[in-house]
Amino acid sequence: MTPDHPPSQADALAALKSLVGWWDDAGIAVDIPPAPPPALRTSAPERKSAPAAPAVKSAPAAPEKPAQDASAMARDATDIAALKAAVESFDGCDLKRTARNTVFARGNSEAPLMVIGEGPGQDEDREGLPFVGRSGQLLDRMLAAIGLDEASAYITNVVFWRPPGNRKPSTEEIEICRPFVERHIALAKPRLILLVGGISTQAMLKTPQGIMALRGRWSQVTAGGHSAPALPTFHPAFLLRRPQEKAKAWADLLSLQEKLEELS
Ligand code: URA
Repeated sequence: MTPDHPPSQADALAALKSLVGWWDDAGIAVDIPPAPPPALRTSAPERKSAPAAPAVKSAPAAPEKPAQDASAMARDATDIAALKAAVESFDGCDLKRTARNTVFARGNSEAPLMVIGEGPGQDEDREGLPFVGRSGQLLDRMLAAIGLDEASAYITNVVFWRPPGNRKPSTEEIEICRPFVERHIALAKPRLILLVGGISTQAMLKTPQGIMALRGRWSQVTAGGHSAPALPTFHPAFLLRRPQEKAKAWADLLSLQEKLEELS
């Protein structure tokens, strides 16, 4: 994941600041006073308290439309752009009714690393991009601490629409979106997958085991004929609530970095 050309002084300084900030959060002593982390992307500040979920509009009775077949739509998509269009045109997940935007992915679809999270929150719903709120900023800092950015990672979720009130997506909603998520993996062909949080870990590893037991342990994810090692780690939103767990997440990131280096 080393760039072809030497980083500029500004890039190097930004990377150093991010690393020091992460180490400090992870409880690792550093001599240099920690500086504020660099913002990897500019996004609107998150509101302190989430406003109530938008009321479900009572739609006028519409004529019955034939149900869309997510598996067929996903299979018919032969590239990432077509898959994105298919997801955007899919009406089979109720989450879409209360969401403002479809949140598909950000980053580089050809990157060796795919990051899979739980589902869009309020900021993601507004911007139509995954992980752009507070937890996204922490995710960016975590990735920056091992030298990764939007050019070297591809970021998505197990559902494409915000669950109302930021609740967790239900098993049914995850299963409805699964054909698209699996096709996403098959088309992006990541060399490694980082599963952030218990929901995406359980969904992608098809296990009832919790994140406490699974984090830091490599497994294999196979989707549409593509198979890649996958590492579960804590969700950044959890780390914002429980910063004392950052040292474990740092250990996971180092394991990820080592595996990425083995590939290159
Ligand atoms: N949390 C997630 O799991 N995904 C997002 O896109 C944002 C927050």
